[in-house]
Amino acid sequence: NRTVNVGLIGLGTVGGGVFRLIQSHAARYLETRGIDLRISRACGLDEGRARELGVTPAQFTTDWRDIVDDPSIDIVVEVIGGEHPATEIFTESFAHGKHVVSANKALLGRHMEELAGAAHAAGVQLRCEASCGGGIPIVDTLERDLSGNTVLAIAGIVNGTTNYILSRMADEGLGYEEVLADAQRLGYAEADPSADVDGFDAASKIAILSSIGFATRITTDDVFMQGIRTISAEDIEAARDLGFAIKMLAIGRRTDEGADVRVHPAMIPATHPLAGVSGAMNAVYVVGDAVGETMFYGAGAGAFPTASAVVGDVLALAEDISAGVKPLPEPEPFPRQMPVRSIE
Ligand code: HSE
Repeated sequence: NRTVNVGLIGLGTVGGGVFRLIQSHAARYLETRGIDLRISRACGLDEGRARELGVTPAQFTTDWRDIVDDPSIDIVVEVIGGEHPATEIFTESFAHGKHVVSANKALLGRHMEELAGAAHAAGVQLRCEASCGGGIPIVDTLERDLSGNTVLAIAGIVNGTTNYILSRMADEGLGYEEVLADAQRLGYAEADPSADVDGFDAASKIAILSSIGFATRITTDDVFMQGIRTISAEDIEAARDLGFAIKMLAIGRRTDEGADVRVHPAMIPATHPLAGVSGAMNAVYVVGDAVGETMFYGAGAGAFPTASAVVGDVLALAEDISAGVKPLPEPEPFPRQMPVRSIE
């Protein structure tokens, strides 16, 4: 058995899920994998929330530096989101020889190459399964399980908020504004819904998935983006009459001219498996030259689904640490090998 110490930074929805999942399953990880996974420190801003989760005073800190500076911590889990101080948490964790597990799509969508390069230079790993599609195992799937393929296309419903809105518009014949207001009331959409409805969130995710799937560098800024604000119930009905569903898709395609990466509402045949993905669920459809068509479905958000992906990464690292495995040399992670096709 090997003790692996985790420092958890962020005690919001995802951080709370990670804390609870590790607490409730620690005995199982020890029994089945021989890994004694411990949350040595947990960082949050709200002590009341920490207490509620069961974080002890000895574990709790409000200063992330207490975690990255702690020599006993092997793995830092960053689930605060945003660029700062997440960037500093990454770089200082690497400088202290710690592996990082993150769900931070906004940061990784823009800076995956630099951050993966910094991790590599420090001889540690950066894992980000939870950054795309919540609980759906898709990052590792592209990175490892489908690595024998040339990935031809990735098409995902990777934003639950917009899928929820479009699904209700389709099912109930309601207008965009009406469903958005209801989605905000029910907590499916944020008070400021722009990151979701204008496509930024999905753009970050498809930038990450395309970078991995096509082994090239694609950032959020490369992604053509169009949101769902102008879609009407009439558009959805007209599409349905023609045998199509309207879905907000995040698409990455390998073309002869390069990677074509975009996010926009699209008409897809009602018979396509993505057309049946409704409500706040996510799905990612991948075509590889050897495997053919595949599709991965699940909850794209929420405390435990996202924690499932985070803890999967933590356990994968814990196993490497136990086995004394070093990350493989990868001198230039995600270099720009393919031009990004510009879309008019
Ligand atoms: N806002 C995101 C969504 C949350 O609606 O899917 C998960 O990244």
